[in-house]
Amino acid sequence: MPSPSEWWRSAVIYQIYPRSFADSDGDGMGDLPGITSRLSDLRDLGVDAVWLSPFYLSPQHDAGYDVADYRTVDPRFGDLGDADKMIAEARSLGLRVIVDLVPNHTSNEHEWFRAALAAAPGSPERERYVFRDGRGEDGSEPPNTWLSVFGGPAWERLPDGQWYLHLFDVSQPDLNWGNPEVRDEFVAILRFWLDRGVDGFRVDVAHGLIKDAELADWEWGGDVILGGLTPEGAPPPPMWDQEGVHEIYQQWREVLNAYEGDRILVAEAWVQPAERLARYVRPDEMHQAFNFEYLVTPWGADPLRQVIDRTSGANATVGAPTTWVLSNHDVMRHASRLGFSDGKDHRNGIGVDDPQPDAPLGLRRARAASLQMLGLPGSAYLYQGEELGLPEHTTMPDDFREDPTFERSGHTEVGRDGCRVPIPWEADSPSFGFGPADASWLPQPAAWAEYALDRQRGIPGSTYELYRSALRLRRERSLGHGTLSWLDTPAEVLAFRNGDLLVLTNFGDAPAELPLGVRVLLSSEPLTEDGRVPRDVTVWAA
Ligand code: NOJ
Ligand code: MG
Repeated sequence: MPSPSEWWRSAVIYQIYPRSFADSDGDGMGDLPGITSRLSDLRDLGVDAVWLSPFYLSPQHDAGYDVADYRTVDPRFGDLGDADKMIAEARSLGLRVIVDLVPNHTSNEHEWFRAALAAAPGSPERERYVFRDGRGEDGSEPPNTWLSVFGGPAWERLPDGQWYLHLFDVSQPDLNWGNPEVRDEFVAILRFWLDRGVDGFRVDVAHGLIKDAELADWEWGGDVILGGLTPEGAPPPPMWDQEGVHEIYQQWREVLNAYEGDRILVAEAWVQPAERLARYVRPDEMHQAFNFEYLVTPWGADPLRQVIDRTSGANATVGAPTTWVLSNHDVMRHASRLGFSDGKDHRNGIGVDDPQPDAPLGLRRARAASLQMLGLPGSAYLYQGEELGLPEHTTMPDDFREDPTFERSGHTEVGRDGCRVPIPWEADSPSFGFGPADASWLPQPAAWAEYALDRQRGIPGSTYELYRSALRLRRERSLGHGTLSWLDTPAEVLAFRNGDLLVLTNFGDAPAELPLGVRVLLSSEPLTEDGRVPRDVTVWAA
């Protein structure tokens, strides 16, 4: 087992996207029994814990982030017995389990929302959500100017004339966190899963639960928050990062603290600057918050050094470790993202007509980036498939797209399906071993055979073996608990020490020298013949 004391400070946590990890029954949709059957592979990889994206009852209008019942497993994924078996198997393998909690909104098929629709304006049923009368003479204008993160207005009108708020899809009505009934219900949901033995919760849209009391107008794009930066001249967004969210997490922390073991809360909060994000991980609130600022930082020595300093520094002021991440189910996989050299932001998905990434360059940089990340002190999250060097599916035909972003943006954004494609396990099996049948809810590119686990396991130099070696060394050397000190290097080289380990990345054309007398332990690509570090390569040496 990982160290029982504050295991999360140094943990490597592997994100499982249940739809796309492993399919046990051949319906093309990943499921809990599939996950259970593959947990030993994650043990072999060497991670400490898994986080599962939502598997609860849901009409799946946002791939399960629209929850209809927080205490029921969606039949596509299995049932509660399957969840119990998955948790038990993880425990027997020494892996911890984090589940997803979606408190900002429910599905429109949740019994509360159905009751709200059936009830009259002003009723207690409507008080659980954000219902308002419209503006204009006949109330036909939305109550304010807010936009949905997925595109279009954030308000939907009902036949009786009232409007409800949905910061995401129209099928995801926002809850009213000013209502004590909502608070009580979520404490009960936390307890339900804690009692089943989970080690923690990844909290969806953790910065969004409380809205400005006046619901003040805000004209800027709803997706602005994904950029994390308020546009110049704009007042702070009235829907994100309001002071009132913190008391909710303080209450949840008390709930978790009353359980034995070390149960954790991790914030999905697209909040900048780092000092604001650090407030989510104060000692009496959450344990971790994803460092998205690091994820979106362009590939370069200077920007990376700055972001590492800035974010670790901000967290240090509240005694929290940093939580590194390079990929997840919402952004372009880093093996593709880093394959662009135009200096633009490439976190959003792309289609066949868009400029395509340089795949070999992307993979080379992704390996260097991951090796750098795993050498940093703190915790790190991996997204399923990155250990295979898996790229984004950047040429998916539009007919397959399911992300609501595609429709709601009027097809101007293709959305996030490209990072959600079922992953390859066996090169020569149907659906590349994702399931027993040749079925996969999103199409897998033919070229993915070469990324399959069975083509990489035991092959020196494969991306999989690079991750496995890095995770082993990281554990042996307690890198997660270490401290970082920078080395003086040329401008295009980034190098730091974590304990005895030297981590060096070269971003420049000229091969970089390693300090005299060090021994190379791991390298994201072969070194030059005379032992120097080529461009876009990270080395671990001691
Ligand atoms: C963040 C999740 O990661 C994303 O997939 C989802 O669409 C939104 N929150 C809304 O729940
Ligand atoms: Mg299935």
